[in-house]
Amino acid sequence: MLDMFGMAGSRYLILGGGQGMGEATTRLIASLGGNVAVVDLDLDRANRVAADARALGVCAHAFSVDVTDAEALVATIGEIEDTAGPIDGMASIIGMAAWSSLLDMTTDIWDLDHNRNLRYFFVAAQELARRLYQRNAPGSMVAVASVDGIRSAPNHASYGAAKAGLMNLVKSMAVEWADGGIRVNCVAPGGIVTPRVPLTDADAEARSMALLPMRRRGFPDDIAKAVAYFLSDMSPYVTGQTLAVDGGYTAAGFLGRTLRVPGGGTLGMPKEGA
Ligand SMILES: NC(=O)c1ccc[n+]([C@@H]2O[C@H](COP(=O)([O-])OP(=O)(O)OC[C@H]3O[C@@H](n4cnc5c(N)ncnc54)[C@H](O)[C@@H]3O)[C@@H](O)[C@H]2O)c1
Repeated sequence: MLDMFGMAGSRYLILGGGQGMGEATTRLIASLGGNVAVVDLDLDRANRVAADARALGVCAHAFSVDVTDAEALVATIGEIEDTAGPIDGMASIIGMAAWSSLLDMTTDIWDLDHNRNLRYFFVAAQELARRLYQRNAPGSMVAVASVDGIRSAPNHASYGAAKAGLMNLVKSMAVEWADGGIRVNCVAPGGIVTPRVPLTDADAEARSMALLPMRRRGFPDDIAKAVAYFLSDMSPYVTGQTLAVDGGYTAAGFLGRTLRVPGGGTLGMPKEGA
């Protein structure tokens, strides 16, 4: 295989590799020759994805940990390096939103979303960076945020704030760790079809996609490709960046823009003079 991505033989840690975008990312990395450590709360899922990766001819191990338990997460990273060898890159994909209006939001909800979207990435990235510095080895890390951290997140503001925090955190990590040859970037997905967020019926999908320039939801592979770009030698001079992979959602801003909708007609504010 032509190793255009420079990933063959390297070792990658995928946090949340058991399904959805994490599973697609694991599969893509393995198909590019990267060895993988699949980490998920659900060990059965992690085992299944690791077995699929091994079938692609790479080394793959499965680990189970709740990443919101900082001590256990750090211990698991150590266990992975002891079992599978030193890690070269990490894709941090776990995240979830609690739904609550700001008026009803409790500090427990706030903390929950910050722990499972932002805090664990800080813990894992710090541990991996310390290990990379110790070995004097370069590395690459990618956090998965959300377009909800770029625009507003009504009724799940704790999630939006945590995802926005990720985008800022990768910048600080990128700057502080650049002298170690460690790159840190972020992918911000739009609406992606995953087992947790499945397709609805065709009419509902068409209605909710009407204002989206690319008029379709994304798929886990759309995100996996962006993650692999950041992890690989295809982005050697890129660090501290967030790439929105969202079918044009953040670019559009529907006010002030008129879009043709399926079935005829237009939506959005008409252009001045139109
Ligand atoms: N699906 C979307 O539309 C969408 C949109 C924007 C951003 N995102 C973000 O993309 C990422 C992936 O989303 P997805 O839909 O593929 O997720 P998913 O729920 O389908 O998969 C996440 C995996 O993480 C594991 N996991 C959950 N909590 C864990 C924990 N505490 N410790 C260890 N493992 C845990 C789950 O078992 C699961 O296998 C998340 O960060 C999410 O916030 C998703």
